[in-house]
Amino acid sequence: MSFSSLAQDFIDLFSGRQSAHLSKYVHLYRPEIFDQLVNTDTYYPYSLECKLIKNHAHELASNLPQVSHIIELGPGPLTPVKAKSVPMIAALESCHRVEFYSAVDFNAEYAESAREIVSKKFNNIIARAAVLDFSNKKEISTINLSEDHSNLIICLGGTIFCAGNEDYIDKVVENIANLLKAGEYFIFGADISDSEQALRPAYFTDLSYQLMLNAMHGLKQALGDSNSNFDPTAFEPVFRWNERSTTVELLLRATRSQNIIIDNTECCIIKDVLYNILNSRKTSINEIKLRLSKYKLEIVNIYETKDVFGNKFALLKTKKI
Ligand SMILES: C[S@@+](CC[C@H](N)C(=O)[O-])C[C@H]1O[C@@H](n2cnc3c(N)ncnc32)[C@H](O)[C@@H]1O
Repeated sequence: MSFSSLAQDFIDLFSGRQSAHLSKYVHLYRPEIFDQLVNTDTYYPYSLECKLIKNHAHELASNLPQVSHIIELGPGPLTPVKAKSVPMIAALESCHRVEFYSAVDFNAEYAESAREIVSKKFNNIIARAAVLDFSNKKEISTINLSEDHSNLIICLGGTIFCAGNEDYIDKVVENIANLLKAGEYFIFGADISDSEQALRPAYFTDLSYQLMLNAMHGLKQALGDSNSNFDPTAFEPVFRWNERSTTVELLLRATRSQNIIIDNTECCIIKDVLYNILNSRKTSINEIKLRLSKYKLEIVNIYETKDVFGNKFALLKTKKI
């Protein structure tokens, strides 16, 4: 991670130039918080996606051309890797001669633990870890791809279509499409819920607040000894449901004013001002389809499920055309 891009992202946040663009920073500090979140009963995206993988991993894997390299974007911590990535890879391995697995994550600890789990579980697969930002064109192009047409990208947990703002999603989808050759596939999970009532218990929680604070702790860590007065905890959580964009907005309200210097730029954090750290965007299949088509990705199969509270999740299989 380069200090200058982190610096720019936080300068943009405090100046109001950008919002909801910090999802990649919320896992850098206390990476165990996300693992605790997926283990709560109310965090439905995890349980619904596990169910979809259990029921459909074989169908997803069997109707694909030969896959020799699985690239997983954002595998995350232990729990989702064991419950989702491993069964998905097992299904793929039973249908294909998989030689390589690449765990790609901004968080080095997550990338390395996914690499280790897959390496121990699958004797015939060479597992690698890559620490990079997949929203960055230059960084994502450093992934070592198989030369023949046998790469498959997977991304679970609603990581791409749900977490960021519109610009971020477009950038990531474009980067993924550029990695794939025609005829190669991209499989991902997306949260397609649309009711505030059902979303509230999953997102309006102390763990979501702690995730947002992680971004501030990460900033404090990156700043090192400079700005030693910066208090990363001087924020309280605000959760909003934006009906128009069907988005859960996760914000921090400053509980006091603070001035900090980031990369020679003075930033004023103003008491009571709201800073939108990340979003959990709920998209319709139609919206996803439109966005994918801009980058020559075509939906081949959709597997959907819902729970008794009306929360919905989908796994989508798409092909680069
Ligand atoms: C919502 S978590 C999902 C984790 C897991 N796949 C799951 O299903 O629960 C998002 C993951 O993607 C990683 N991530 C988010 N944005 C990223 C980016 N721009 N570049 C690389 N990794 C990123 C995070 O570090 C985290 O591991």
